[in-house]
Amino acid sequence: MPSSFYITTAIDYANGSPHLGHAYEKVLADVIARHARMSGRQTYFLTGLDEHGQKVQQTAQKRAIEPQVLVDEIAAVFQSMLGNLNISNDDYIRTTEVRHKIVVQDFLQRLFDQGLIYKGQKSDWYSTRQEQFLTDKDRAPDGSWPEIYGEVTQTTEENYYFKLAQFQEWLIGHISSHPDFITPRFRRNQVLEFLKEPMNDLCISRPKSRLTWGIELPFDKDFVTYVWFDALTNYYSAVAAKGLWPADVHVIGKDILSPPHAVYWPCMLKALNIELPRQLLVHGWWTVNNQKASKSAGNATDTLGFATSHGADAFRFYLCREMVVGQDADFSALTFENRYKADLGNNLGNLVNRLLNMVGRSYAGVIPAAHADEDLEKALRSLWVDTAKKYAADLAEFQISHALESVWVFISAMNAYIEARAPWKLAKSTDPLDRARLDSCLAHVAEGLRLVATVLTPVMPVTCDKLLMNIGRPVAITLAGQLDWSSVCTGSTVAAECILFPKIEPPPAQVPA
Ligand code: ME8
Ligand code: MG
Repeated sequence: MPSSFYITTAIDYANGSPHLGHAYEKVLADVIARHARMSGRQTYFLTGLDEHGQKVQQTAQKRAIEPQVLVDEIAAVFQSMLGNLNISNDDYIRTTEVRHKIVVQDFLQRLFDQGLIYKGQKSDWYSTRQEQFLTDKDRAPDGSWPEIYGEVTQTTEENYYFKLAQFQEWLIGHISSHPDFITPRFRRNQVLEFLKEPMNDLCISRPKSRLTWGIELPFDKDFVTYVWFDALTNYYSAVAAKGLWPADVHVIGKDILSPPHAVYWPCMLKALNIELPRQLLVHGWWTVNNQKASKSAGNATDTLGFATSHGADAFRFYLCREMVVGQDADFSALTFENRYKADLGNNLGNLVNRLLNMVGRSYAGVIPAAHADEDLEKALRSLWVDTAKKYAADLAEFQISHALESVWVFISAMNAYIEARAPWKLAKSTDPLDRARLDSCLAHVAEGLRLVATVLTPVMPVTCDKLLMNIGRPVAITLAGQLDWSSVCTGSTVAAECILFPKIEPPPAQVPA
């Protein structure tokens, strides 16, 4: 595994409030980034905001403000979401920044100088909502434009085109020979399917008569560049001066895989003779009551209120546990509250308190050494070995929900182990073997919780720090050497009580839209 790791998310459109989909993507990338840091990799985590385009210009016009004022406002809202979710990004790029503009213009000029950009005239269908050209292939079977495109208009104008089509064979070859370039696999197959049709050249300009809110073409002052050409370049422009390119992972949603990330971006880089990103990690869509969460529908902003009412960690856990990476998932207050109560409160939170109570009562708060070693202890330790293996394998494939699932199998097994040991009975016994069993029981639960808190740190950083401190252990900074069953908890002093997941009675606070 290379020692450096550069991960990005999509940069969100500055055209509304953040919602569940944006939150999820940033959390997913954050968990991967935190895990990479704990694995000893020099990690750089980039996210940001996509600030140009027709939609931003239109909204600013309607509100009679400068587009820059609008995007500054929206940037503050998106950045405060990152804070609320405890996202550990190292950088935040905004496409109106100078560091970005100079790279976009440099890319354009280089392509122009190589003869890969030409001027031409075409008639195109355009979706402002998606900032995307459409073809008849994009129509629904009945000939209408699917709802996701919003208003679709036809334009006939002179524009500049990037010679995209000539890279088609090369692109098919690249995707075919790099099976992990697009994950999960079924998404890659969809792209290869899409590439069976001949590609068109890509229109990369807009006349200023129609759109001024963009980056000017360096070779023609009457045009700005197309927002996708601009936006994709962020991954490179943010780190151009830092020597971090190529990116290891671009985390994106399925709606922007093909063509932007799977076609335009690799072809742009190939044409510029720049290395390609190693991997596109493509997640599915969150729905709310089975409708896609979207800014335009405005149906999913309130869901972010759960991060306030129940804490960022509970929300992060829910998102990671509920969505299988690559597939869609549905959000509901009911499933959220159930997971909060069952998985977090009862299964994990109560286990911690059981331990603290018993260590407090029988050992004056100091975790004992294990003395008896019977089948129950051996089984628990062997389950941990399997769990740690699965966790490592699942994280290597970014399958966080599967990793969490197996960690919870282990947590449930710890609860079952306590039931089987019945330490409250052992504590009353005068038999020395029972006392040895009680030692072992509490030592094993303490160590099991240390291990669980360590592997869960990327998902629930604040909660896990708290858990570890409450069992007298330092917070988990590294995974190296920390996932083997040990006796480091013996002799640690535990807290009297620790409420990780308080009962929440009132309905969740709503975040103003
Ligand atoms: O597409 N569920 O911005 P965006 C899950 N600016 N993910 C979702 C989602 C949902 N319901 N809705 C949106 C853009 N997303 C461009 C990206 S990158 C160079 C430019 C995801 O604000 C979406 O798939 O519309 C995308 O990855 C991200 O949120 C930003 O979407
Ligand atoms: Mg979108």
